[in-house]
Amino acid sequence: MSDVSMTIDGKEVAARAGTTVLEAAQSAGIRIPTLCHHEKLEPFGGCRLCLVEVEARGSKRHVVSCVYPVEKNLVVRTRTEKVDRIRKTLLELLLAHAPDSPKLVEMAREYGADKDRFGKDPSFCVHCGLCVRYCAEVAKKHAVGFVDRGIRKEISFVPDVAAVECARCQGCFPLCPTSYLQAAYVLTQALAFP
Ligand code: SF4
Ligand code: FES
Repeated sequence: MSDVSMTIDGKEVAARAGTTVLEAAQSAGIRIPTLCHHEKLEPFGGCRLCLVEVEARGSKRHVVSCVYPVEKNLVVRTRTEKVDRIRKTLLELLLAHAPDSPKLVEMAREYGADKDRFGKDPSFCVHCGLCVRYCAEVAKKHAVGFVDRGIRKEISFVPDVAAVECARCQGCFPLCPTSYLQAAYVLTQALAFP
């Protein structure tokens, strides 16, 4: 595949056609924060923390870098004042759900996010989908999935499948940025297959 030349934070970068802006930045050693991205999983674009400013043909806009494809002569800025301000607000919203998540707390420090800005709604799951997608795409077991929609959306183990598969796998556990996944598994285990 041919290379695409572009600029990220003032640095000339040769990215492989068909890859994303996030991948191009990572291969050039430029860090963009992520929450729902995992290199073994299909791009998801859920958390939006990887948002960057792109400029092409004289027009600027904000895009989600983990799903946005590289493009010839694209100019990418990963840390403008506006990008940082949006990331800060996104982190504050996420922290209302999972105030003790080590990953969120660390990013909050970097972006000056206030974990008390929004009223607490500690659902603990931040809907990153890492557990669900890992189980479907890598483990190929579909032992955990999302149920319901909107503010009622939550993850749920499929007891019959989890009883057989999860005890010997648990590959998704280290991916969860909060404590919710393990808690949900323990609860399922206690109720459905003690
Ligand atoms: S349980 Fe954890 S890994 Fe799964 S969607 Fe929620 S926050 Fe993400
Ligand atoms: S890492 Fe790109 S949207 Fe979550």
